[in-house]
Amino acid sequence: MSSVVISCSRLPLRSFRHLSGYAQKRSWSDDVYYRSTEYRERSTSVTSFYNQSEIDNIAAKSSIRLTPTTILYAGKSPDNSHLLKSAQYLYNELPVRIAHRIVGFRGLPFIVGCNPTILQVHEMYIRAFHILFKHPPVIDLRSEETYTETLQQLLDEHKDVVTLLAEGFSECRKHLQNEGMIKAFLDRTLKSRLGIRMLAEHHLALHSEKPNHVGIITASFSPRSLVTQKAEFVRDVCQNKYGHAPEFRVTGHVHATFPYIAPPLEYILGELLKNAFRAVAESHMENRHNLPDINITIANNDRDFIIR
Ligand SMILES: Nc1ncnc2c1ncn2[C@@H]1O[C@H](COP(=O)(O)OP(=O)(O)OP(=O)(O)O)[C@@H](O)[C@H]1O
Ligand SMILES: [Mg+2]
Repeated sequence: MSSVVISCSRLPLRSFRHLSGYAQKRSWSDDVYYRSTEYRERSTSVTSFYNQSEIDNIAAKSSIRLTPTTILYAGKSPDNSHLLKSAQYLYNELPVRIAHRIVGFRGLPFIVGCNPTILQVHEMYIRAFHILFKHPPVIDLRSEETYTETLQQLLDEHKDVVTLLAEGFSECRKHLQNEGMIKAFLDRTLKSRLGIRMLAEHHLALHSEKPNHVGIITASFSPRSLVTQKAEFVRDVCQNKYGHAPEFRVTGHVHATFPYIAPPLEYILGELLKNAFRAVAESHMENRHNLPDINITIANNDRDFIIR
């Protein structure tokens, strides 16, 4: 049976969920909202893509990346000033990251950029930019609260962006001549999306107390616990589907713990374990009482860890 290796830097960082907001009840006054809706409608039509000076100006700025260590050790203050600082960082940073993505959409070949689904996502990014850029500055915990609500709403509204992009590119595949360029666009967009969503989710998570967590960071992450939890889940799914499922064994540095952001790894592990359980179950249909184990090995040092 083949083996799959995931090699990860310890405590990488950056990501999340996204954005847009039309015809929603806003927290600022109706008058301001009315004007901003009108503004967004005007500014998000295709014909005004060339007239987006705010996006151009912000896109010229560089993104300021936080290191995982900075995030982890930013700490919590009894007066909640950590929430204010976190929101102020996002207030400045998110428009820059979104503007960079909008520049990416503009750089797509014309025939791709005109695809209705791709255009829809492009416009979602533009609307998200305007919502965040026009948001009143975060100066106190009250404005932090409004800002956090806006972030949550944008995260929800942008949850299907990956599916939409997949649909859009599949629709225009027949027109594509330079697949490499599209791959580079998707890699950048999805990586950036992951970073944006992770930062926003971290900010949201700072509002609640969870043992062993600082925001979305698990302070003492155990690869063995996650692997075991996912493997048990996948084994149950396999058992239900095929009527039989292999056992699994976790070996190596099973006692390793360190700070880590688990959700992306959780997703990857689920996919790899599904593949492994399925491959064993399907290739032993005639011999279902004598299935080989799935062997999962964890290797860890000060910088990286590997799961095979
Ligand atoms: N651990 C494995 N052992 C043997 N074959 C594998 C293993 N992992 C993947 N494969 C093969 O590679 C193919 C592609 O895997 P991939 O995860 O990309 O898609 P899938 O499992 O078929 O679909 P999905 O992941 O969307 O449910 C699988 O269909 C299977 O034939
Ligand atoms: Mg699979």
